[in-house]
Amino acid sequence: MKQRILLIIGGGIAAYKCLDLIRRLRERGYSVRTIMTKAAEQFVTPLAVGAISNERVFTDLFNLDDEREIGHIRLARDSDLIVVAPATADLLAKMAHGLANDLATSVLLATDKPVLAAPAMNPRMWLNRATQRNVTQLKSDGIHILGPAVGEMAERGEAGPGRLVEVPELVAKIESLLARHDITARPLAGRQVLITSGPTHEPIDPVRYLANRSSGKQGYAIAAAAAKLGADVTLVSGPVTLADPAGVKVVRVVTAAEMLEAVTQSLPADIAIFAAAVADWRVAKPKSEKWKKSANAEPPALKLTENADILKTIAQRSKGRPSLVIGFAAETEDVIAHAKKKLKSKGADWIVANDVSPETGVMGGDRNTVHIITRDGVEDWSEMDKSDVAEKLMARAAAHLSQNAAAAE
Ligand SMILES: Cc1cc2nc3c(=O)[nH]c(=O)nc-3n(C[C@H](O)[C@H](O)[C@H](O)COP(=O)(O)O)c2cc1C
Repeated sequence: MKQRILLIIGGGIAAYKCLDLIRRLRERGYSVRTIMTKAAEQFVTPLAVGAISNERVFTDLFNLDDEREIGHIRLARDSDLIVVAPATADLLAKMAHGLANDLATSVLLATDKPVLAAPAMNPRMWLNRATQRNVTQLKSDGIHILGPAVGEMAERGEAGPGRLVEVPELVAKIESLLARHDITARPLAGRQVLITSGPTHEPIDPVRYLANRSSGKQGYAIAAAAAKLGADVTLVSGPVTLADPAGVKVVRVVTAAEMLEAVTQSLPADIAIFAAAVADWRVAKPKSEKWKKSANAEPPALKLTENADILKTIAQRSKGRPSLVIGFAAETEDVIAHAKKKLKSKGADWIVANDVSPETGVMGGDRNTVHIITRDGVEDWSEMDKSDVAEKLMARAAAHLSQNAAAAE
């Protein structure tokens, strides 16, 4: 069946490029319905958009005929993918805050379909902290963001990040998202996936703790990706400030010991992915009262003791071991060599290795460069968004399970 795209055109100079986008999508056999914001009508006419898309163009939330014929809620659901292009600063802000004061934003709030936004605006608007905050929020809400590209702006003398990505790049992303979100493709339906994420906090006294810089973003993205593939996902999370991914059961813990307990309680699982940065050591005897500084006394020495190794404990279970156990190796030197050792010593099936040296910006950042270490060798993946790493990893894990199932038959 022909896949259906709902294109929301925002009020920016780049709106004219949507005519070319619609034409190319239709050439590929997609049907394209369009909503134009009031501002978009200043840049390109509904007549031109309607003629190119060969569909009627929706512009008004309070249009009795449109509402009777299709209704804004059906418009929100009757498509396989919603594309916002150009996504203006204004539309991104409204989406991030859940505003719904026109047809475009009402549909975006009412949809349960994947949404891709391609921002285009003046570089200062893009770099403004408010816009950056909104984009971070939208990414954590699962909105796919493509671009903007860097280059000359329509305004003379302006250059920087803010151009709408080129139409062929937009088409390629749309095609890959449509393939990924094809509802017939839920290869992890009925599978249990267990993921750990974030740091752990090991108490020193009631107010102080030992921790690390893990943000939890990679593990949360993996949980979201597994849920999209239809899995029943449990995410055991250390202390982070991220919103729960949609459709995922989240178990919050603080210490490594609590994480191990929660993981054990969450078994059985078909796939277990240990992305958390679990503290190797905890304070042997945390104080029950706040540790006081006293004049002329030496600073206290912390005596540490080793935490249980969660990955190893689960990977080496004789009974009820998940069929696929994936560990993460965060290293700052000899990344691959350490990861190969870890694969063997822990008994994991795969290790996802990444360089977390401060200059890479991986800890806390949105991008990651990973290497997949298996018993068959090493795969080097190029740098990409953590959400793309997550989707690629889960697609690979799903393929692995189905190959194993086929071999067992
Ligand atoms: C000539 C002109 C060009 C504009 N270009 C952009 C743009 O490229 N990106 C953007 O975010 N806003 C741009 N704006 C501002 C938006 O049109 C304005 O914020 C509007 O309210 C957006 O409405 P919408 O988000 O409902 O489409 C432009 C405004 C003018 C007058």
